[in-house]
Amino acid sequence: MKNFITFEGIDGSGKSTVSKLVAEKLKAAGYPAVWTFEPTDSKVGQFVQDCIRSHSDPFVTSFTFIADRIQHCKAITQWMQEGTVVLCDRYAESTYAYQAAQLEDTIKNPLKWLQDLSKDRILIPDRTFLFVIDPKASLARIQHRDELIPFEHLAFLEKVHNNYLTVSKGKRFLHLDATKSIDELVTLCYNDIIK
Ligand code: TMP
Repeated sequence: MKNFITFEGIDGSGKSTVSKLVAEKLKAAGYPAVWTFEPTDSKVGQFVQDCIRSHSDPFVTSFTFIADRIQHCKAITQWMQEGTVVLCDRYAESTYAYQAAQLEDTIKNPLKWLQDLSKDRILIPDRTFLFVIDPKASLARIQHRDELIPFEHLAFLEKVHNNYLTVSKGKRFLHLDATKSIDELVTLCYNDIIK
């Protein structure tokens, strides 16, 4: 059984819908589970949302996402100590993938810089699902939304997509084909978590 699971992918990859359904399925099967997300809805998390929408300086945005995560880890630790399975919609790889894309022309190795900044201050998940989808297809899925945030355009999401592929090597990661049906994805995640 895995206890701390994160869901990653570009905007429109379907990870929020699937992660919520997986949490429901776990609860229905009698496992205590909580679904949470980043950026969080705390004061820091709300400030992060403002940073994204107001095109803030990428360093400010990076530090703020990390601050939000360090604070979030306190709650995650508490849930895990209570024996609750924690499913988190976006976590550290979001910062590596998105903020490295923002910082790519500013510093030498933004991915490593971002990883080094917080790695000793945050929890390592037992499993990270990466929802892999072509950025054109994911954008087509979210075009109808009332508001698209500044990150939701093709050139940027292509960089984010490539960063995700770079940072998701290793045993902790499971790549999922995000064009599969929601039911299939929920079952894949659920079976992997309870294994
Ligand atoms: P959401 O769509 O999952 O609510 O996330 C809002 C946006 O924030 C989304 O485009 C991804 C972005 N994001 C980052 O750029 N860095 C991060 O660390 C996180 C958690 C999200």
